[in-house]
Amino acid sequence: MTQPIDAIEGVGLGFRLGLADAMLSAPQSQARFIEVCPENYVGVGGRRARLLHAARERWPVVCHGLCGDLAGLAPMQMELLTQVKAMLKEVGARWYSDHLCMTHIAGAEIHELLPLPFNGEAVRRTAQRVRQVQDFLELPMAVENVSAYGDMPGGEMTEPEFVTAVLEEADCGLLLDVNNVYVNAFNFGFEPRDYIDALPLERVIQIHVAGHFQEAPDILLDTHAMPIADPVYDLFAYTMERLPRDVPVLLERDGNFPPLSELEDELIRLRSIMEAAS
Ligand SMILES: [Fe+2]
Repeated sequence: MTQPIDAIEGVGLGFRLGLADAMLSAPQSQARFIEVCPENYVGVGGRRARLLHAARERWPVVCHGLCGDLAGLAPMQMELLTQVKAMLKEVGARWYSDHLCMTHIAGAEIHELLPLPFNGEAVRRTAQRVRQVQDFLELPMAVENVSAYGDMPGGEMTEPEFVTAVLEEADCGLLLDVNNVYVNAFNFGFEPRDYIDALPLERVIQIHVAGHFQEAPDILLDTHAMPIADPVYDLFAYTMERLPRDVPVLLERDGNFPPLSELEDELIRLRSIMEAAS
């Protein structure tokens, strides 16, 4: 499988409304690309449309879905996918990504990323849905490993075994969120490097990194509202040293926004780790 990752490279920053003005007014940036969530832009005009237009003038754009319900039980949302497809074409997207989880229950969007029971039935259903989206969008798909806070009943395999099975059955890419691996390793008590080692790293087409929050002595929350933690930088370095090729790396910051200079410093640190590993 050859993924067209050549047009997007280096480090990028999630383009969020709370950061948009600062990003667009900064004279320069370490970011070589941005990532946007289509659900926040399709069918919307006004300020959001203007900001996206201005951002596209400055950066290549990667699109990352939020509520595609890739592993769900309800019929696929073809109206939304039609809008997403138009946006992907407009921004010249080379791939599309969404989360490896459920986002709807009984037809209602729950605004959460629900984890799955890690079993064969979920693998087959999810892979079939990923293929359906991939075929409809006429673009390669990447699925993202999600953070979780409880085991779903009915599991038959480990999380990396589940992720690998979906990737192979759907023949799709992996958006590897290193912070999510770290958060799950902490919350469920496994070794995060073993998780990385168990993945088919040749399928990684993009990396996410983010900050988390320690809610309790034994619970980390994947908030995207804190600086990247040092152990996550270490896991990121471990991962980059093992990837068979360079892939783009995105910093996700979704709240508690600091001055942009702090995020630029995080991008510099990520890039230096990438360069040391390549
Ligand atoms: Fe992520």
